Amino acid sequence: METKTTNQLKEKYQKIGQDLDVHLEGLLYSKPITYWDYIHTDSLLNLQLPRTTLPDEMVFIMYHQINELLFKMILGEIEQIATTENVDAVMFSSKLMRISRYFDMLTSSFSIMKDGMHVEQYNKFRTALTPASGFQSAQYRKIEFASTELINLIDKRFRETIDRNSSYENAFEHLYWQAAGKDYKTGKKSYTLTVFEEKYKEEFIRFTQFYNTHNLWTKFKSLPQVEKENKDLIKAMRHYDYTVNIKWVMAHYNTANHYLNIGGKTTEATGGSEWVKYMHPKYQKRIFFPDLWTEKELQDWGTMV
Ligand code: HEM
Repeated sequence: METKTTNQLKEKYQKIGQDLDVHLEGLLYSKPITYWDYIHTDSLLNLQLPRTTLPDEMVFIMYHQINELLFKMILGEIEQIATTENVDAVMFSSKLMRISRYFDMLTSSFSIMKDGMHVEQYNKFRTALTPASGFQSAQYRKIEFASTELINLIDKRFRETIDRNSSYENAFEHLYWQAAGKDYKTGKKSYTLTVFEEKYKEEFIRFTQFYNTHNLWTKFKSLPQVEKENKDLIKAMRHYDYTVNIKWVMAHYNTANHYLNIGGKTTEATGGSEWVKYMHPKYQKRIFFPDLWTEKELQDWGTMV
């Protein structure tokens, strides 16, 4: 007897010129799925390859890998908002809350980095990692590009004067994070930044061309007025901005201080930036949704943590 499902299957395979009977026969021989095949645990647990003999390097590698997985989850949620045509406040808030939950997790778990490694061990194994740096996380940059308009990622010193219609190429050269990879006297780019751009710049420009008009901030601004005034949505937007650009940044900064500032003496980071100044939110003033903050809040950004 033909069931509704068999009819639907027949239709599905007919559409692509396939014989359903052959596919059904294949089921006779296919292996039942297991947890380990589905999650790829064997591959996943073989991706941790320390470069030194120091055991705490494993914590460092794995925590970064966990971060990259969460970054991927965040980008997946942002993409859903970006590619949905008529987003409403309810969908927008619920996706933003998902994203914030991932970022809350990244922020609260940063103590795994700060207190989870022996300072002495860290300062030994990091020498073997030079000149690599978390600064080279492409997904982190993509989260920024997908969250706001390029102008809000421009180095604060050029934000007022840069031509808003300038090319992506020019905007790219003035992004706030260029400051971590450039010698400001000579303008010369560090090796860390040069190789990062060689690998990702073209991909970033393509990504930005799409997201400069589909990012969270532009999407929010294009909502009908009544939706834009939705209190829960505004709260969710502010929560996300604050979590990424103050709470995460401060957790990161405090961790850098813990390892690289011993007895008031700062050590150069693996990426070679002037990190003490560069990393603090009060200098970066990176704000995804500036219109959702008061003048005073913008002024005090990063100083009232
Ligand atoms: C012991 C732990 C860590 C220390 C001491 C540390 C230190 C630093 C420093 C000093 C910088 C500035 C660039 C440089 O000169 O290298 C930086 C940048 C960066 N790190 Fe880390 N970091 C740590 C863990 C992490 C983790 C777990 C992540 C997650 C992926 C991460 C992601 C980043 C990102 C995205 C940047 C660029 C941030 C920006 O441009 O504002 N870091 N880190």
